[in-house]
Amino acid sequence: MCGIVGYVGPRAALPVLVEGLRRLEYRGYDSAGVVVLNGHGLESEKSPGKLQNLEERLKKRPLDGTIGLGHTRWATHGGATEPNAHPHFSCDRRIALVHNGIVENFAELKRGLRGHRFASETDTEVAAHLIERFYASERDPVRAVHRAVGLLRGHFAFAVIFADHPDLLVAARLNCPLVLGLGEEENFIASDIAALLPYTRRALPLDEGDIARVDRAGVRVFDRMLVPARRPVIEVTWGAESAAKGGHAHYMLKEILQQSETVAAELSGRVDAERGDVRFERFGIPKAALRSARRIAIAACGTAWHAGLVAKCAIEELAKVPADVGFSSELRYGDTPFDRDTLTVAISQSGETSDTLAAVRAAREAGSRVLAITNIRGSTLAREADGVLFMRAGLEVCVAATKTYTSQVMNALLFAIHLGRVRGALSRARARQILRDALALPPKVQEVLGDDCAVLRCAKRFLRGYDYMYIGRRYNLPTAYEGALKMKEISYLHAEGYGAGEMKHGPLALVDRRMTVVAIAPQGRVLEKMVSNMQEIHARKGHLVAVTTRGHPIAIAEETFEIPPCEEMFSPLLAVVPLQLLAYHTAVGLGRDVDQPRNLAKSVTVE
Ligand code: G6P
Repeated sequence: MCGIVGYVGPRAALPVLVEGLRRLEYRGYDSAGVVVLNGHGLESEKSPGKLQNLEERLKKRPLDGTIGLGHTRWATHGGATEPNAHPHFSCDRRIALVHNGIVENFAELKRGLRGHRFASETDTEVAAHLIERFYASERDPVRAVHRAVGLLRGHFAFAVIFADHPDLLVAARLNCPLVLGLGEEENFIASDIAALLPYTRRALPLDEGDIARVDRAGVRVFDRMLVPARRPVIEVTWGAESAAKGGHAHYMLKEILQQSETVAAELSGRVDAERGDVRFERFGIPKAALRSARRIAIAACGTAWHAGLVAKCAIEELAKVPADVGFSSELRYGDTPFDRDTLTVAISQSGETSDTLAAVRAAREAGSRVLAITNIRGSTLAREADGVLFMRAGLEVCVAATKTYTSQVMNALLFAIHLGRVRGALSRARARQILRDALALPPKVQEVLGDDCAVLRCAKRFLRGYDYMYIGRRYNLPTAYEGALKMKEISYLHAEGYGAGEMKHGPLALVDRRMTVVAIAPQGRVLEKMVSNMQEIHARKGHLVAVTTRGHPIAIAEETFEIPPCEEMFSPLLAVVPLQLLAYHTAVGLGRDVDQPRNLAKSVTVE
């Protein structure tokens, strides 16, 4: 959600800010704005809608200056209008601020700011006026921000610029991500490292409650008591090209097509097929804790929740320990009995999803150890968890997750195998078999990617469809959910994922010749039952599309997407690929904004 960029250094600030905002577009937003400080004071431009609208305005009125802030806003309080777009200003327009998150007590604070003139309906603006009030008495930007932050409830990341301080930006963070980018004689602020990639690989993620002074010469961080603090600097390994489309029409297609490489990266150096072992670098959870856990609780949202469902199947099959998967948005309320005997696994691509962070905090408070599976080093989740499995998917720009889903699934499966071995529930011989099959996955993913004729035909044929239902069982029930989620996220067609065995308990009533049912039916324990469920659809004249194992066609399917043979537990990794492509081609055919679907954000940092 919302993106923040700040720059101070020798360059013209505007192009850096606009480029940074472009790289944050994927987070989801509905208005954009910039502010630059120059000899005329703080000059700003804002626009509702896409960044391009703002750029059009900036062409007519370029803003000079070598220090400034940029913002993309995802509307919460007040519509996506120009007055509500950030930056927001103090009454005297000598302080400007951009904000991510929500100030929950803004109405109460606003009432206390008598005499201040407000120009927007946002919660954010109150912070600019509070800083103005404290700056009037303190005359020190950091102290003024600190005092204002002390009054705010909610979660936020701020960047503030003062007309009186032409070489200074102030950043503050509480429960919303914010990193500083460290350059030579120039420094940056950003809501995530994607914005920094063209300029620097050295990033300093702020801790909760931190306030930072950022000027050309360097950065200084203070903790919530305003005591100088040292925070580790991380070296970012992603290249700047990871934020480019690389000749593809959309990021989504690029990211789907990368999956044989990303799956290979997840396996690399972690799998010892000969010994039947999995090794993780800096895992952080002691083997004794893996052995003694009586329950695994998995917390996640959206696509990551689907990866959690695959994890549950594998953990119960291979490690013989009960596993529950909860929506983080439900687990956060603390009624779920986390305890010392529960190992919590939090799955989050971004490591910043507010609900997942809250669930993790509830789990830790109850004494549970937390293992994070995340794609982002330095993310809040990575820092708060007891142990981390870092995914190696690289930067994912499209809002709809694709390669990070298969990476999450791969990590979850490797974890389940490791758990099974450590607990003695999985024999070495069986682990060898499974791991040999795992190593063969990357070319199989490539094979599925190369065979998209049926997908293209199907996308065209059912484009104007009435309804999509995706059905599956066991390991591929999550695939059904994920296939349906991809379809609705980017095509805006109605699509539902359902347990195949549950169809006759209600949804079968919906089936007629207007309904397309995608059945995920590869070889495995539940295939016969899947075929019976497909017969029930066929008898009611629903259109059937099947994902099957090569060489095992299902005659009643009108269209078939084949995957190569593999261990059943790996079939979700292969079966999801044609479903991602189906959603993609359908959305393109319908002329949708594939990479930035309406109303959605890549990283959901509000409750
Ligand atoms: C948003 C994204 C989804 C993602 C979900 C959870 O809704 O649009 O693609 O699955 O958040 O995100 P996380 O970063 O926690 O995996």
